[in-house]
Amino acid sequence: MSSDSTVILTAVFSVTIVVLGLFSFFVLMMIRNHRKVEAAQRERIRQMQLFSEKLQSAREEEQKRIARELHDELGGTLTSIKYDLLWLEQHSSAQGEVAQRFQAMRDLIDSTTKVVQRISAELRPKILDSFGLAVAIEWQTNEFKKRTGIDARFQKLSELPPIDEAVTTGVYRIVQESLTNIVRHAHATSVKVNVQLRNNLLHVEIIDNGKGFDKALLDHPESLGLLSIRERARMIGGNAVISGSPGKGTQVVLDTPLQNKHPSL
Ligand SMILES: Nc1ncnc2c1ncn2[C@@H]1O[C@H](COP(=O)(O)OP(=O)(O)OP(=O)(O)O)[C@@H](O)[C@H]1O
Ligand SMILES: [Mg+2]
Repeated sequence: MSSDSTVILTAVFSVTIVVLGLFSFFVLMMIRNHRKVEAAQRERIRQMQLFSEKLQSAREEEQKRIARELHDELGGTLTSIKYDLLWLEQHSSAQGEVAQRFQAMRDLIDSTTKVVQRISAELRPKILDSFGLAVAIEWQTNEFKKRTGIDARFQKLSELPPIDEAVTTGVYRIVQESLTNIVRHAHATSVKVNVQLRNNLLHVEIIDNGKGFDKALLDHPESLGLLSIRERARMIGGNAVISGSPGKGTQVVLDTPLQNKHPSL
C-alpha cells in the first residue's frame, strides 16, 4: 500500500471516529434530556395528585361541617318553631281558617325539615360516622331504591372489621357516584351492591343490568365521574375497575385496604 493511501485511510478512519463520537454524544444528550423531561412530568403528575387529594379532603371536611350545621342548627330551629306553634295552637283554641293556617304552617315546617335532612344527608350522612360503612351503604342503596324505583339490593357477604375514616368516606363516595351514574345513564331495572372482606381487602361491587357502556369513555376527558371513582380508590391505596359492554350492564369493582395509605387525608 502506498503512503498516500495510508494517509487517506487514516484520515477517513479518524473522521469516522469523530463523527461516531459526536453522534454517540448527541444520542446520550438526547436520552439524558428525555429522562429529565420524563422525571419532570412524573413530578408534575405527583404534585397534581397531591393537590387533588388535598382538595378532595378539604371538600369532604367542608361538606361535613355544612351537613352538621344544617342538621343541628337549622333542623333544631325548625323543631323548636314547630313545638312553639303547637303550644300556641293548643293555647289559642283556634278554629276555622285560623286552625287551617296552623295546620298549613305545621305541614310546611315538616316538609322543610325533611328537605333540610335530605340535603344534610346528601352532603354527609350522619349514619356514616355513627354506624359505619356497611350500614351507610345499605341505607344509601335503600334510599336509591325509594327515589328511583329501581330494584336495588344490598348484600353484606361477610363481617367487616373496623374501617378507618378516610377509607369509609372514599368507598361511600365511590358507591354514591356509581349509583348516580346508574340513574343518569344506565336505564337499569336491577342493581346489586355487594360488600365483603376478600383477601384482607374490602371488596365492593356495584353491578347494574343497564345498557352498559363503551370502554373508550374511561379515557374521555369529560368522564370526570369515572375518573373520580378511580382517583378516590387510588387515594386510599385501593384499585377500582369499571367494566361493561353495550347491552350487558356495567360493573364497578373496588378492592381497597381497610386502613388508609395516606393518613393526611
Ligand atoms: N352505569 C352506567 N351505565 C351506562 N353508562 C354509564 C354508566 N356509568 C357511566 N356511564 C357512561 O360513562 C360516561 C361518563 O360517566 P361519568 O360519571 O364520568 O360522567 P357523567 O356522569 O356524564 O358526568 P359527571 O361528571 O357529572 O359524573 C357517562 O356519560 C355515560 O355515558
Ligand atoms: Mg357521573
